[in-house]
Amino acid sequence: MLVLGLESSCDETAAAIVEDGHRVRSELVASQAQDFAKWGGVVPEIAARGHVAWMPGLALEAMSKANCTLQDLDAIAVSAWPGLMGSLLIGVTAAKVFAARRGCPLIAVDHVEAHLAAIHLERPEVHYPMVALVASGGHSHFYHLHAPGQMKLLGGTIDDAAGEAFDKAAAILGLGYPGGPAIDALAENGDPKAISLPRSLLHSDDLRLSFAGLKTALLYQVRGPLGKDPLTLSPQGLKDAAASFQAAVVDILCAKMRKAAKNQGVNSIAIGGGVACNRGLRTGMQHLADTEGWTLLMPKPSHCADNAAMIAALGCLLAKTGRNDPLRLSARPMGSAREGKFEGLSPTERPIHP
Ligand code: KG4
Ligand code: ZN
Repeated sequence: MLVLGLESSCDETAAAIVEDGHRVRSELVASQAQDFAKWGGVVPEIAARGHVAWMPGLALEAMSKANCTLQDLDAIAVSAWPGLMGSLLIGVTAAKVFAARRGCPLIAVDHVEAHLAAIHLERPEVHYPMVALVASGGHSHFYHLHAPGQMKLLGGTIDDAAGEAFDKAAAILGLGYPGGPAIDALAENGDPKAISLPRSLLHSDDLRLSFAGLKTALLYQVRGPLGKDPLTLSPQGLKDAAASFQAAVVDILCAKMRKAAKNQGVNSIAIGGGVACNRGLRTGMQHLADTEGWTLLMPKPSHCADNAAMIAALGCLLAKTGRNDPLRLSARPMGSAREGKFEGLSPTERPIHP
């Protein structure tokens, strides 16, 4: 089964062709992240216009790189929620055009679920059940996965998402946008114990996460008690602050992952989403899995950040269940696995317009 996946939920435009849900035949990503550095974050209108410029060309190039034509495709999958409405609409419209032209199934995909379907890429066999964490710019949630594409929300952040916290911490440290990769790079040569930072809810008997206090604590530590002093950290001080912040996030996520997996009695864990690119988190999760004798499923970094191969992978899993969404399908900014709205419903039972 050959599936074209399209992704345009935020500031990455991406297209990929995936065979049988795991073999990546081609994949392309055009990121606008650098363009948004001067704004300090994504400007939705500009992002949407960027998708218009990139999407058609990327989709055609993905087909040509995969050595196939539209007629060879068995389904078109697209990230349809959650995300920036204007951005999502570009991918959804392109997917409708391709599906109508080809006369093949159109499959609307939940972007958050797709981050976890990325564990299937380059891995022909995946054994369920498992507990998985999606940590990205908009999500930091734990799920119980009982079968491909079937997930139950267990808990997650009550304020910022982990990626959002990384981005805000980077802004506090004057590192620009996107902040996660900048903190990751600096943390490599910093002392994670240099600054004492809180690990909120670390010992709570649930899966709630909170990063708001951590972010504020960093602000006061580096910019004084009112959080308004100029940043006077030395280059090494900056590395130490980045390392201390990253260590706090990693400690929290690993401790809660341990709790989630033990509560659910599983011996496989998985991570996905942009924050799963973080080297500290990858090392921490590997250490956890090794200590507990668990299997860790961790996509390669380019499949953790927003990409279209994960969309095609989930699209393929859903296509095999007979899923075929109508052309009246619309994108949705919310309404994802985050709200646990679809708990207990199989992918085919989920409403297109809830
Ligand atoms: O999954 P993603 O690409 O887009 C969303 O669906 O949100 O995640 C983007 C988030 C951003 O907040 C970015 O700063 C963070 O992932 N991120 C990282 C790293 N790479 C990306 N955070 C920490 N360390 C990284 N290496
Ligand atoms: Zn994402």
